[in-house]
Amino acid sequence: MHEILRRTAEHVRQQQSADCTGHDWWHTDRVRRTALALAAAEGADPLVVELAALLHDIADWKFHDGDTAAGPRAARAWLVAQQVEPAIIEHVCRIVGSLSFRGAGVPTPMDSLEGGCVQDADRLDALGAIGVARAFAYGAVRGQPLYDPEAPPAPHGSFAEYRRGGSSTINHFHEKLLLLADRMNTATGRALAAGRHAFLERFLAEFQREWEGTDLPPAP
Ligand code: ADP
Ligand code: NI
Repeated sequence: MHEILRRTAEHVRQQQSADCTGHDWWHTDRVRRTALALAAAEGADPLVVELAALLHDIADWKFHDGDTAAGPRAARAWLVAQQVEPAIIEHVCRIVGSLSFRGAGVPTPMDSLEGGCVQDADRLDALGAIGVARAFAYGAVRGQPLYDPEAPPAPHGSFAEYRRGGSSTINHFHEKLLLLADRMNTATGRALAAGRHAFLERFLAEFQREWEGTDLPPAP
């Protein structure tokens, strides 16, 4: 394995070992593996993809007072200290800075195939069974209710609105998670997202059924 990849993985693993919001080392490791599989299928540069996947959550804006420059700044400091080639540093930092979801009405386009693979991989980890688990873990840390039947979901038109949060975790499915399958960059990512999206739909239908008690026996 490329020495820089080994050192970067070790660095990130140390930084993310204590996280319990779903942005932990194992999330990064899954994103790295998924992103590399997408890169192989799509013909993207595996070194840029793996470095960007490893560094993508190194300083997320959600945990840095909304500062979207914190991630690329931390990634750059690390890569410069490792004497990585400047063109690779630029590319990786551009990806890290533009990856994150910022609200239903806020476009976050990726301008390279490598960025598309990493963004797709990160989004795939927000879908499916792991996506459900991560959403409730994040919601608990933020003190959100599981669900509030009196608070309808609000598709956010701006990053500022999205950042304010304050919704339930079930609302987050409607405000973000169910929108992701239509926003994939690569054909391989889109195919994987379809299956994981279908699982979210099944989970929500069952949640609603149990919440409303439609599975209970009829009253005598
Ligand atoms: P991105 O990688 O696009 O920045 P996030 O960091 O927002 O994605 O999402 C990471 C994980 O945290 C996802 O699994 C997502 O569902 C969860 N998450 C983010 N915001 C919320 C929220 N308000 N409620 C519940 N889960 C959330
Ligand atoms: Ni992530």
